[in-house]
Amino acid sequence: MRKLMLVAGARPNFMKIAPLLREMRKHYAAEIQPVLVHTGQHYDHLMSQSFFDELGIAPPDHHLGVGSGSHAQQTARVMTALEEVMLAERPDCLVVVGDVNSTLAGALVAAKLLVPVAHVEAGLRSFDRGMPEEINRLVTDALADTLFVTEPSGRENLLREGRPPEAIHLVGNVMVDTLLHELKRPLPRLEPAPAKPYAVLTLHRPANVDRPEKLGELMAALEEVARELPVYFPAHPRTQKALAAAGLAPGGDSGITVMDPLPYRSFLALWKDAALVITDSGGLQEETTALGVPCFTLRDNTERPITVEVGTNTLVGSSGQALVAAFRRFQEEGPKKGRVPELWDGRAAERIVRVLAGG
Ligand code: UD1
Repeated sequence: MRKLMLVAGARPNFMKIAPLLREMRKHYAAEIQPVLVHTGQHYDHLMSQSFFDELGIAPPDHHLGVGSGSHAQQTARVMTALEEVMLAERPDCLVVVGDVNSTLAGALVAAKLLVPVAHVEAGLRSFDRGMPEEINRLVTDALADTLFVTEPSGRENLLREGRPPEAIHLVGNVMVDTLLHELKRPLPRLEPAPAKPYAVLTLHRPANVDRPEKLGELMAALEEVARELPVYFPAHPRTQKALAAAGLAPGGDSGITVMDPLPYRSFLALWKDAALVITDSGGLQEETTALGVPCFTLRDNTERPITVEVGTNTLVGSSGQALVAAFRRFQEEGPKKGRVPELWDGRAAERIVRVLAGG
């Protein structure tokens, strides 16, 4: 029996561990004992527990309760608490997903305790070290022994960084596993139902929301979009705080409807029928490509180039002017068409767990 410890802490981690845990329980109950650690990086009900409830994730075996803080504080708190748990549990392997601070902290602790590390969603690179996630990706991948990649660019990046070819596995995308799994049963009905056509917006990158001038510029551009296409905006707590602090919360007649973060399935019900998704999220770039929904990414770079090269994603840039120009083109030329990348077929977790069980 191999004991596999999985670490998750922030909202985008939860939809990535759900299919891994399901696969382990369903097909490897006699071979793998999963131990789930929730770091507590995200803690609001809508940022955490709602995902456990909706995606059928069993309660974590350990909850570290680290909460918010600066990068160093948060990473250090996860490391200190996780070291104790790992010393007690002595897992055969640590599985980390994505690129958040909890991912980095987990990889560091395990590597020092000589516990092999597997990284799901390895190799993605924005080549922008101004993004905290890029630092997390680089360090996690330097420490990981097994690297599961979602797209060919991931393999190329890892090979360029000197990672051994036999450690790299192109397996597809666990987030797409969750997406396709959740689409098998009816999604919640939205109340009130949004009138089509509409756009969906998410915004939470520090580079876009932490400075009032930048946030103001983007909100002004979004109001221009909303004059032609109503915008539904489930806002991250970080963004809600920034909008309130800067006095930038859109008015009732702006066409932008700001709301609390939505649970996974309600959010899926909202964005899957959108005419356009506008976002600075990493995951949503992939999810929209998986369902063929046009997506504008409000960033200057993406670590997920396949969504632009093959999928429905357009890298718009991070200025208000660029957003308005891209929207004008969208209105004139119509939505970008795309294909679903290879192996984004709902079976990534099967491929990953097969490798983990064998190791
Ligand atoms: C983190 C990840 C980011 C990911 C995002 C998804 C890092 C470096 N960043 O960013 O990659 O895209 O999660 O959501 O790990 N807050 C709450 N309630 C919560 C969680 C956060 O109010 O449950 C507020 C707090 O004010 C906190 C702020 O949001 O300080 C930022 O949270 P944090 O986890 O530090 O980063 P995110 O912006 O969520």
